[in-house]
Amino acid sequence: MWRSDVGVVCVGVFSGAATMARMDLIETVDELRKWRRGAGRVFFVPTMGALHEGHAALIREARRLAGESARVVVSIFVNPLQFGPHEDLDRYPRTLDADLAMCVAAGADMVFAPTVKEVYFDDRSIKVTESSLSGVLCGASRPGHFDGVCTVVAKLFNLVQPDDAVFGKKDYQQLAIIRRLVRDLNFPVVIHALETVREADGLAMSSRNRYLSTEERHQAPALNRALKKAREAWLSGTSNASGLVDIVAVEIAGTAALARVDYISVVDSRTLMPRDDMEDLGLVALAVFFGKTRLIDNIELHREQSGR
Ligand code: PAJ
Repeated sequence: MWRSDVGVVCVGVFSGAATMARMDLIETVDELRKWRRGAGRVFFVPTMGALHEGHAALIREARRLAGESARVVVSIFVNPLQFGPHEDLDRYPRTLDADLAMCVAAGADMVFAPTVKEVYFDDRSIKVTESSLSGVLCGASRPGHFDGVCTVVAKLFNLVQPDDAVFGKKDYQQLAIIRRLVRDLNFPVVIHALETVREADGLAMSSRNRYLSTEERHQAPALNRALKKAREAWLSGTSNASGLVDIVAVEIAGTAALARVDYISVVDSRTLMPRDDMEDLGLVALAVFFGKTRLIDNIELHREQSGR
């Protein structure tokens, strides 16, 4: 990869014949505004960097949807507002060069990677608050987290002005809240959702997986295994929420001794509200600590896989 000091990243791409892929790198709001004026239709993938195959899948999907005429923009910004005081903001992995190489290989046309100062004024006094969907699941364990997400996504939407944006179902609650943000604040952005990308052993890919010790990494696939067991039980007729939660809890307790469960919940996949009986359109979601590392995962209980 070659990166110039005027914001252009190039890599050699070999697909039958060797060609050069070119991508712009923009770090300031002024430059972004200029770029946006001539950009036409834009598909946007917001990230916090430390990119892995899950992010690459979102970028490739944006590229596929964009075709040849529209542009694909990725943002890389570790948003301080969405981290709690005792969370991992300081040690969150920052791997810009590797991220840029991944973006260009996955087909991005531009990466927006601003500093914190570029995004937030020291005396900022406005934030976006979500007051319904963020009361449950991760929102209950991480107070203020989704306000931080909503605030930065609203700002990024205003800056990048995308026509479409692609998010992952791995962060299912975030996806639901972003849809609500777009609806309630009338952002003219179409939201697309992509299935969770997993390691070969089922562990959902996450920038935080690199924190895991060898033993923790060995035990972590228990989360997906447990969720799949719950889904199998549901398909064979177990529809009461507490029965499904028990199946997940027993599998994790039995096969991942280092895991400390934060929550295991069965909710309506549209409203995220708990339901005792899960006939259809449900979601089993969980968060589990391995040491200080908090992992999340989920599985849909949908009679027909909607691809939503
Ligand atoms: P980040 O955790 O970097 O995730 C960026 C996007 O990648 C999100 O839409 C997330 O759901 C998706 N993603 C992460 N892991 C995935 C996987 N294994 N499979 C599929 N998609 C996956 O989510 C954030 O950043 C931030 O909260 C952000 C929206 C950028 C706001 O700061």
